[in-house]
Amino acid sequence: MEQILHTKEGEDEESYAKNSTFQRLVFMNFNHALNRSIRGFCQANLAEAECIRVADLGCASGPNTLLAVESIIDSINRECHNLNILKLPNIQVFLNDLMSNDFNSIFKLLPSFYQKLEESCGRGSMSCFIAAMPGSFYGRPFPDNSMHFIHSSYSLHWLSQVPSGLVTEEGLPLNKGNIYIGKTSPKNVHDAYLDQFDRDFTNFLSARADELVFGEHLFVTLAPKIDDPVAYNVQDLLGMTMIDMVSEGLIEEKALDTFNLPHYRPSLEEVKAIIEKNRALKIRYLDTIQLRYRARSLRATYEPIFQAHFGEGITNDFFTKLAANISPHQGKMKSPINSLVLSLSRT
Ligand SMILES: C[S@@+](CC[C@H](N)C(=O)[O-])C[C@H]1O[C@@H](n2cnc3c(N)ncnc32)[C@H](O)[C@@H]1O
Repeated sequence: MEQILHTKEGEDEESYAKNSTFQRLVFMNFNHALNRSIRGFCQANLAEAECIRVADLGCASGPNTLLAVESIIDSINRECHNLNILKLPNIQVFLNDLMSNDFNSIFKLLPSFYQKLEESCGRGSMSCFIAAMPGSFYGRPFPDNSMHFIHSSYSLHWLSQVPSGLVTEEGLPLNKGNIYIGKTSPKNVHDAYLDQFDRDFTNFLSARADELVFGEHLFVTLAPKIDDPVAYNVQDLLGMTMIDMVSEGLIEEKALDTFNLPHYRPSLEEVKAIIEKNRALKIRYLDTIQLRYRARSLRATYEPIFQAHFGEGITNDFFTKLAANISPHQGKMKSPINSLVLSLSRT
């Protein structure tokens, strides 16, 4: 799963780098909350800090990757100024994603990024150190008590694996005709997804609690579930497009029945319950905002995982049909789409 779960690399028209506007919009809308979280951290720590260690988990590759980093560095600089701290602390930034992420494209952006920092705030590569830390965030990319601020945007709804409970004891598919939790999915499909999310999110929180210095901050955005029985969500439309292709003979029914997205959109209550059960981190701030999706950003997000299951041959056809399917349903799509922001600190 870790080999295929990544956004579409490169810089062509369909790449994630060119199609991450939605995630950018989410980021811009939550920037005030991110700044507030950093302000809290700075007020408690800046007077003594010599080096602030920051991580961005699930950074992908594209313009958004450095957007979050830039905003975090900007906020720290501003707080130094507000607190009359003349010697800026060093900042070490770790960009984390799966091993298959296109880290090389990010490295190519670094010279101009350092130059921009130098020009805007006199901080270049001598006081800000950006490195990659590949590996799953469900594991432990960082040592104990080493990180001051951890950020993760729109990545946590990717599960570590397809839930194991999606087949019967006889090995038959439980979620026929769906690729995620659909309107016709039986209850045990929902339970299997929730169970996997619970395990993954619990591992994520425990790992961050070990990595964060006592009292320090974790800031997360993700796409939550919306309970609206009439509206479609993005995954419904992906599934409907697949079914059309089965009826046209372009995809085998068996291939569709054995395909399930390793993706889960939790409800606000599910997220809260898992955090409260874990206890190592406490909620400082929780909010939702509403935005819209575009078909092209779906391709940049889902293409690698579709290609791995169905093969390269149908990819173009699939995403063209998906775009055509989205237009008539736009009104019924969960629009605007919710996004959830969470600011936590280590207790
Ligand atoms: C939709 S992108 C979001 C990227 C970026 N943070 C943004 O806001 O535009 C999700 C990213 O999470 C990464 N990801 C998924 N599961 C992961 C895991 N277990 N560990 C680290 N990264 C993961 C994917 O490879 C992908 O780059």
